[in-house]
Amino acid sequence: MPLSKIAGIGMYVPEKVVTNNDLKKWMDTDDNWIQERTGIQERRFAKRTEETTTTMAVEAAKIAIERAGITAQDIDFIVFATLSPDYYFPGCGVLVQRAMNMKEVGALDIRNQCSGFLYAISVADQFIKTGMYKNILVIGAEKHSMGLDFSTRGRNVSVIFGDGAGAVVLQPTEKNNQGILSTHLHSDGASAEILAQYNPGSHANHWVETPVADFDEAEIGEMFMSHQMIDNAQLFPFMDGPTVFKKAIVKFPEVIVEALTKNGYTTEDLNILIPHQANLRISQFVQQKLKLRDDQVYNNIMRYGNTTAASVPIALCEAWQNGKIKEGDLVCLAAFGSGFTWASALLKW
Ligand code: ACO
Repeated sequence: MPLSKIAGIGMYVPEKVVTNNDLKKWMDTDDNWIQERTGIQERRFAKRTEETTTTMAVEAAKIAIERAGITAQDIDFIVFATLSPDYYFPGCGVLVQRAMNMKEVGALDIRNQCSGFLYAISVADQFIKTGMYKNILVIGAEKHSMGLDFSTRGRNVSVIFGDGAGAVVLQPTEKNNQGILSTHLHSDGASAEILAQYNPGSHANHWVETPVADFDEAEIGEMFMSHQMIDNAQLFPFMDGPTVFKKAIVKFPEVIVEALTKNGYTTEDLNILIPHQANLRISQFVQQKLKLRDDQVYNNIMRYGNTTAASVPIALCEAWQNGKIKEGDLVCLAAFGSGFTWASALLKW
């Protein structure tokens, strides 16, 4: 069975840089507070009306496809991970298929938030291994700047996130000892509401501690979307930051070690870890726990913030572009996020 390799990789971040001080236009916040707790100095925001999750994804995909030495017409499957799609439905996969004039190929959208790209890679990897597809476009992209509460009320969440996109083309490898060695996927739905956007949704208050309206009194449509939701900021994401932090620093190292152990490696064999850029403090904790050197961990959250499903492919692309990943290197990708879901992939580059 052939392994799958990353044949091409690309990234796109919007031009507009938003510093921590820029955020003070909208909310009461502080550069020191943000940097101390998250490491973030600045992030990128998409052009409000011209750029979408899909348009950014297309820019990243064009580069990945070109670097793979193929054209958009050669793509035989699309896997798209995002939590900030252009539309509630349909997903962004079909919008990429349309925008890039691809053949009528399958397009799958993945809803696994921060670990979305890892889940997407894992799905694509199985299709390559079985021989079903030969050129799969895997994308992680987000336009967070459109859906966050930029008032002081939402500052614990909104200062963390940024916009951007990353893409890879997966192909079967002809070489021995190259490609994706294994992927590892996990979830624990017990904490689903700890980091979530409840509305609009079909939960009808069933799972939500703070109901949006009394069920008997509310019109059916109001259960989904109402003025009350807007007034009470219930259309924005909710995050219990400290709980996320505590769980992340346990599950990140666990899933990295799982991938290494499965393939007979230790942390000393690892050339580079590309962690989901959740928070610099989380990455530093993981580095310390696994006793990794600085050159074994790649971080760029300082410049882009947390771009959720896009963060791993953006960091991977940048690390590769900066010459930090060479052929034959052992590379581990890992992510943890909303769900909770967490995942890893071990690759020989
Ligand atoms: N600027 C200034 N002050 C703020 C801000 C802000 N942006 N946000 C919150 N504060 C204030 C709060 O109002 C609070 O003030 P109070 O004590 O007067 O009530 C104080 O700062 C402390 O607030 P906490 O929410 O307790 O802050 P904490 O120290 O826990 O830090 C943070 C928040 C950074 C979110 C932290 O919990 C964390 O790092 N959690 C991990 C979550 C994470 O990284 N998520 C990333 C997305 S999820 C993922 O990718 C896995």
